[in-house]
Amino acid sequence: MQAKLKVLLIGSGGRESAIAFHLRKSPLLSELKVYPGNGGFPDSEVLQSGSFEVLSKQSVQTFLKSNPFDFVVVGPEDPLVAGFADWAGELGIPVFGPDSYCAQVEGSKDFAKSLMTEANVPTAEYKTFTEYSTSLKYIESKPLPIVIKADGLAAGKGVTVATDRAMAVNALKEIFEDNKFGESGRQVVIEEFMDGQEASIFAVSDGKSYFLLPAAQDHKRAYDGDQGPNTGGMGAYCPAPIVTEEVLSVVRKKIFDPMFETFREKGHPYRGLLYAGLMISSEGRPRVVEFNCRFGDPETQCVLSMLDGDLLELLYKASTGKIEDVKASVKPGAATVVVLAAQGYPDSYEKNIPLDLPETVGQNTYLFHAGTLKKDGKVFSSGGRILGVVAYGSDLKSSVSQAYSLLEKIRAPKTFFRKDIAHRAL
Ligand code: AMP
Ligand code: GLY
Repeated sequence: MQAKLKVLLIGSGGRESAIAFHLRKSPLLSELKVYPGNGGFPDSEVLQSGSFEVLSKQSVQTFLKSNPFDFVVVGPEDPLVAGFADWAGELGIPVFGPDSYCAQVEGSKDFAKSLMTEANVPTAEYKTFTEYSTSLKYIESKPLPIVIKADGLAAGKGVTVATDRAMAVNALKEIFEDNKFGESGRQVVIEEFMDGQEASIFAVSDGKSYFLLPAAQDHKRAYDGDQGPNTGGMGAYCPAPIVTEEVLSVVRKKIFDPMFETFREKGHPYRGLLYAGLMISSEGRPRVVEFNCRFGDPETQCVLSMLDGDLLELLYKASTGKIEDVKASVKPGAATVVVLAAQGYPDSYEKNIPLDLPETVGQNTYLFHAGTLKKDGKVFSSGGRILGVVAYGSDLKSSVSQAYSLLEKIRAPKTFFRKDIAHRAL
């Protein structure tokens, strides 16, 4: 019998609200603390602001030495890329999230592409550049559209799908000449445009074996009909029917198996979540658009409601190399998340919007806070993506309609949400 665990969860988004909700259900949990959290967490769970600096090794280690935790779950990518798992590992504390070597799979597009090439994983053809002039020359000879990517972390803003040459030149100029992405733009990956439908699949890995969560489809554009600017994600649903059993089997054999094997060969078994962002062609051929080293947001909010099993056990055993002991499966049915965002998001948006939330939510529906904070017991918006409304149902149609019914009970001026989440599958 596993001893109970005192768990620290790092992050502040809707993803962390959903992870916390499922961790709390675990009989293995003795205590949960979150840092920095958001307005949806009970005050007793939130660590005091300024407790430590999440991107500083010294600060993290000093904190963990005087505040013992049995296990840390890291939500966002930046701490993992900086080395959070390595720093906690030096103190003997298991972390859900890969070490800094493996986290480069998200932290550097060039690293991800060269690893994929080595592992023979299907992806777009590419070339990496460190100079403006040679990159300009390269795009002259390439067909349109063409995709320009700043190499490093850029909060989802470093990618341009250029439909004409002027756009491509402008993207390169912004990265190389205007230094728009700072260090993240030191290198640029230029790659072939892939046509198809996108889907994301999460693998929870202990370095040897892995557990797949159901494939989800995110909605990245701000407005209905996939119009408007790109966002962090306005809603998602799962399972995505585009990922058939056949596609899934290719994803296992040609993508996850060789990636995890290559990480092992490098001496860095991948322990944590590997997020595969896929483009699936009209013939059903999956290719990798990107990898992330953490749970996706907002996909996690719906995907976790499909898990039949103990999330804490799954994440802990993955981090300690024993995922095969875990009895977890995926439930039948479907789940949907719709994001409530502040007017103006993803550009400049309203803040401090008072939120009038329903006292109770129905069975199988969940209200996950993202950009919120509490002031004198009242909840206000503090970010662009404010809430995620989630419903699990026996089929997609019922989960979508339950999610929208719950949204109608929320009173929040100067907000908006997409009304067509899951439209491709209904
Ligand atoms: P990334 O940050 O790599 O996920 O890219 C952001 C978005 O750009 C993706 O979700 C895709 O919609 C699009 N994208 C990136 N790379 C490609 C590609 N090679 N072909 C088509 N679309 C792409
Ligand atoms: N929903 C996209 C992401 O988490 O990167």
